[in-house]
Amino acid sequence: MHRILVLHGPNLNALGHREPEIYGAESLNDIDERLERLAPELGCQVETLHSQQEGVLIDELHRAKARFAGVVLNPAGLTHVSVALRDAVKAAGVPVVEVHLSNTQAREPFRHTSLTAGAALGVVQGFGAQGYELALRGLAAHLDRG
Ligand code: DQA
Repeated sequence: MHRILVLHGPNLNALGHREPEIYGAESLNDIDERLERLAPELGCQVETLHSQQEGVLIDELHRAKARFAGVVLNPAGLTHVSVALRDAVKAAGVPVVEVHLSNTQAREPFRHTSLTAGAALGVVQGFGAQGYELALRGLAAHLDRG
């Protein structure tokens, strides 16, 4: 059983009513429930956490290795600005899969750079809430390969 930590960054708690034309109608709770439903068939168990605070996300990444085999991370707006979060992804010592609901490459130029992506195992973006499931599948398959 792979224990997976799912980390949601700033403003993702507003999913469902925040720019639904971009991020979809599902709430963060809906996404967490999707992952909890999918996890057993992938041999995973997920724990989910949302924080508006960069430092909390960094602390969780540092702590992850003690309890989790991997992390699914949506760094939200921090993706484009946080060297510290990138360093924490690098330092985590477990594989981290970055996920974005929207295709950031098709949006404003300031979203085209991800500082965190280069430290991640892989990136899934543009598939809405389903992207979290794809990220979990990819991470589980990677962990299964050992
Ligand atoms: C996002 C994309 C980011 O650019 C944005 O700041 C978010 C959400 C996404 O999931 O599409 O908050 O990470």
